[in-house]
Amino acid sequence: MGISEETWLVTGGAGFIGSNFIRHALNVRDGLRIRCLDKLTYAGNLRNLEGLDKQYGDRYQFVRGCITDTTIVSGAMTGVDRVVHFAAESHVDRSIVDAGAFIETNVKGTLVLLNAARSQGVRRFVQVSTDEVYGTLGDEGAFTEDTPLAANSPYSASKAGADLLARAFFHTHQLDVVITRCSNNYGRYQFPEKLIPLMITNALEGKPLPVYGKGLNVRDWIHVHDHCDGVLLACENGKAGEVYNFGGRAEKKNIEVVQTILRLLKKPESLIRYVEDRKGHDWRYAIDCQKSERELNWKRKYSFESGLAETVSWYLENESWWREVKSGEYQNFYKNYYGEL
Ligand code: NAD
Ligand code: DAU
Repeated sequence: MGISEETWLVTGGAGFIGSNFIRHALNVRDGLRIRCLDKLTYAGNLRNLEGLDKQYGDRYQFVRGCITDTTIVSGAMTGVDRVVHFAAESHVDRSIVDAGAFIETNVKGTLVLLNAARSQGVRRFVQVSTDEVYGTLGDEGAFTEDTPLAANSPYSASKAGADLLARAFFHTHQLDVVITRCSNNYGRYQFPEKLIPLMITNALEGKPLPVYGKGLNVRDWIHVHDHCDGVLLACENGKAGEVYNFGGRAEKKNIEVVQTILRLLKKPESLIRYVEDRKGHDWRYAIDCQKSERELNWKRKYSFESGLAETVSWYLENESWWREVKSGEYQNFYKNYYGEL
């Protein structure tokens, strides 16, 4: 059966990366059908998927539900060829405040999905994971797929737990599993609790920009479209049981990112506030993605400079999107977490 006749279940498709992935996959794979399963937590937003039903008709379907619910999952997985599993609690700071939901969704939810995939004979299960499972780097070196797992935050510990369950289902039950691990994404539809959209939207509102510690921690930034391309290739051409890393080869200190955003928006650096450091703050992430380049023929298309400028323009043009998601529950988290800046 060709991809054009397949149905894929995409979990967490109403979130940042999942929604970009669904748009990308439907666009580049004629005939492919995608069913999105999402609980619509604070991070899930149907506006991220707006227009897909009209554009793609019955090639796109949305199911609201929680991945820990075995009945919902079993129904959503009926007739599915491949599962691309994005659904997760994804924000490190929230996991520091309370790790409960991270264990429920990221660990237990992944187990429910793996069990259903196994019992329903799904052809492939893609576990979308993160470079944070490898822990932290000093000033030199980069994570490879063989770097031992050394998660440092409750978020990354829950993702490492899920990765190991996925690996165990491959070894124990011969479920066809591929694991992808990516560095920090940026782009349209990213919830403004994460560094880049938080800094863009606070600057636009003339609010202080909270920079942890001295702003010297380093992240390796990748455009979300390049990540989505990698997940698609891993889903179609990855080897069962293997891990594939994706990264942007764009290491930046946090303060450099914040200063660039202020320059692009023509806003003053006086908006920057150095605040208390994140607990257990990983120092530096950098990804070696040569295996994905070599074995999946994956290639990044975006430079950080052009990708960031495009992202800033998107937030400028989509003010109603980010104003809506910054209201409500998020206000409470922000006040409790950051206090008075
Ligand atoms: P996100 O927080 O924007 O979206 C998560 C989505 O999952 C939301 O739509 C939410 O409603 C849904 N969800 C949460 N709990 C659920 C549950 N119990 N049942 C069903 N749906 C649920 O996250 P994101 O940034 O798009 O990340 C997606 C995936 O990619 C995650 O697995 C994350 O670990 C991984 N990842 C993210 C990055 C990054 O930089 N954002 C980098 C590497 C890997
Ligand atoms: O590396 C991949 C990971 O990237 C993903 O697995 C996570 O889901 C995703 O949230 C992201 O994790 P980070 O913790 O690296 O991203 P965040 O945007 O929260 O923070 C990026 C850096 O910016 C980090 O060093 C902390 C810093 N920071 C963040 C916030 C929210 C600040 O200085 N101030 C802030 O207000």
